[in-house]
Amino acid sequence: MTASGSAANPVPVITIDGPSGSGKGTVAQILATELGWHFLDSGALYRILAFAAQQRGIPLDDQAKLADLALTLPVTFSTTDAKITLDGVDIKDEIRTETAGNAASQVAVIPSVRSALLARQRAFRIAPGLVADGRDMGTVVFPEAPVKVFLTASAEERARRRYNQLIEKGLDANLPTLVADIAERDQRDTTRTVAPLVPAMDAEIVDTSELDIAQTVTRVRNLIRQRLSM
Ligand code: C5P
Repeated sequence: MTASGSAANPVPVITIDGPSGSGKGTVAQILATELGWHFLDSGALYRILAFAAQQRGIPLDDQAKLADLALTLPVTFSTTDAKITLDGVDIKDEIRTETAGNAASQVAVIPSVRSALLARQRAFRIAPGLVADGRDMGTVVFPEAPVKVFLTASAEERARRRYNQLIEKGLDANLPTLVADIAERDQRDTTRTVAPLVPAMDAEIVDTSELDIAQTVTRVRNLIRQRLSM
C-alpha cells in the first residue's frame, strides 16, 4: 500500500469539504477510523473560538481580540474519547448547537482569525495520515492534498438531517427555522472574501441528497483507493 503526501510533508491528507449537513463530518470520521488515520474537525475550532469569545465577553466582530484569542485558545482534542476541552472543561456538547454554529460562521469571516487558526489545523497532519473535514481544507489549509472530496446536498435535505440529529440528541429543533439558518449560513460561508466555501478545482464533487451515509462512504472510499493506490 502506498499513500502519497507531498514533497514538503510526506504525510498524506484526505480533505472532505462541504456545507453544513452534507454528511462530511460523519463520513470523514468513519474513514479516519477505518484507515487508522488522524481526524481534524476544523469546524469545531471555529465553534470553540466563538464559544470562548462569548464566555469572555468578546464581541463576535472584534477582529483584533478574536485573532488574539485564536492564537492562544486553551483547547485540547482527545483522540480516545472524543472530548473537546476549553480551559480544561469538556464543551463537546455546548458547541454542537445551531446557535454555536451560527456564531462560528460569524467569526469565520474574519481573515486574521482564519490565518491564526492555520497552524493549529496543519499541526493535525501527523503520520500515518489525516482526514480533514471543513470548508477550505482542499482550497486553503491542505491545497496539496492528494485526495479532495466536496460533499453537497440540497438545503432542504441538509436541514432535515440536522433536524433528526438534534431530535436524537434530545435537543430542541424546528424544521423551518433550520432551513432558514442553513440558508443564512450557506450565504455567509459562500460569499465571504477569504476562503469561501467552494470546491477545490481538483476536488471530486459528490451530491449526497439521494445517498445514505453507507453509500457516501463507499463512493469516497473508492475514490481514495483510486487516488492513493490502496
Ligand atoms: O462544520 P461546522 O458546521 O462545525 O462549521 C461551523 C462553521 O465554521 C461553518 O458554518 C463555517 O462558517 C465555519 N468553518 C469555516 N471553515 C472551516 C470549518 C468551518 O469557515 N474549515
